[in-house]
Amino acid sequence: MALYSEKVMDHFQNPRNVGKIDDADGVGEVGNARCGDIMRMYLKIKDGIIEDCKFNTFGCGSAIATSSMATELIKGKKVEDALELSNQAVVEALDGLPAYKLHCSVLAEEAVKAAVKDYYDKNGISYDPELFKNVHDCESCEV
Ligand code: FES
Repeated sequence: MALYSEKVMDHFQNPRNVGKIDDADGVGEVGNARCGDIMRMYLKIKDGIIEDCKFNTFGCGSAIATSSMATELIKGKKVEDALELSNQAVVEALDGLPAYKLHCSVLAEEAVKAAVKDYYDKNGISYDPELFKNVHDCESCEV
C-alpha cells in the first residue's frame, strides 16, 4: 500500500484555496514548534457563514494537503460548525495519513480555530476560552 492516499497526493499537488484574502474577517496563524511548520488561514464571513477561505502553509506535504482539505470542509459552513472540525475529520476526508504525520493535521484544525477566534475578537463576540485552549497561535510561540 502506498504511504499516502491518492487524495493526500491530490491535495498536496493541487491544493485548493491557496492564497490570501486581503479583507479577511478572521486570520489565524499557527505553528508547530518542533518541525517549524507554519499555517495561516483566512476567513471571509457573512451572516455567520464562511463564504470564502484561503490558506498559506509553509510546511510539509501533509500540512499542505490537510490545510487544503480543511478549507474545502469549512467553506459554506456556519462559523460554529467550522469550530467543530477535528483533525480526525480532515484525516478521514483525505483517506488517512501515516501515524507519524497526524500532527500535521492538528495544525489544520488549529489554524481554523485561530482564524475563528480572531473573527470573534475583532467583532466583540464573546466565547468560551476553553474552545481555544489548545490552539498554538504564532503570537504565543517562538516559531
Ligand atoms: Fe510539520 Fe508536517 S512535519 S506540519
